[in-house]
Amino acid sequence: MSNIHLPIILATLMFSFLFLGEARDFYKSIPRETLNLKKEKLSHLHFYFHDIASGPNPTAMRVSSSAITNTSSSFFGAVVIIDDPLTMGPELSSKQVGRAQGMYAGASLSEVSFLMVLNYVFTRGKFNGSAISILGRNPVSSDVREMPIVGGSGRFRFARGYAQARTHAVDFKTGDAVVEYNVYVFHY
Ligand SMILES: *[C@@H]1O[C@H](CO)[C@@H](O)[C@H](O)[C@H]1NC(C)=O
Ligand SMILES: *[C@@H]1O[C@H](CO)[C@@H](O)[C@H](O)[C@H]1NC(C)=O
Repeated sequence: MSNIHLPIILATLMFSFLFLGEARDFYKSIPRETLNLKKEKLSHLHFYFHDIASGPNPTAMRVSSSAITNTSSSFFGAVVIIDDPLTMGPELSSKQVGRAQGMYAGASLSEVSFLMVLNYVFTRGKFNGSAISILGRNPVSSDVREMPIVGGSGRFRFARGYAQARTHAVDFKTGDAVVEYNVYVFHY
């Protein structure tokens, strides 16, 4: 063995020590089978979101305002907490498939554009009990708004994808709105 190889051997030994050190740490690599992750699937979900601000049973409640929210044309600084029904069809009386639970906040000074931070939790079929987490920008006057899916739970573990929102109907007096959603999501 020539001396030229010595540094390489030493480096390899050091690397092995580091590696063994890692194995005793609080993390480790595991094979995908451990979590039963087989083939990634793509699903398309279609439903209607009912944001009900008025009437005896509102599902959207404003919980805070900024000093300028009342004089802002874009609801800047308003924070609304929601538990909105999601239905198969555009009518509130159609089959409920889940709820949209979370919040949205007026986050633009120049147009009505909300920061959306919420979960869609489903209550029917194979996605019953599973949820998709959304974090995105919703400029409501655009025909189509796209919001990223940042993760999920249950059947939607490791989820990624996007949700597209289109306003179906809006009552400018009460603020009630029905929004059509097309959601494209990768999951296992
Ligand atoms: C905004 O208007 C609402 C309703 O008129 C009122 O209750 C609230 O105190 C106002 N907020 C501010 C920050 O002025
Ligand atoms: C959804 O799951 C809950 C809890 O497991 C169960 O009570 C309910 O009946 C299920 N709903 C449907 C429509 O399968």
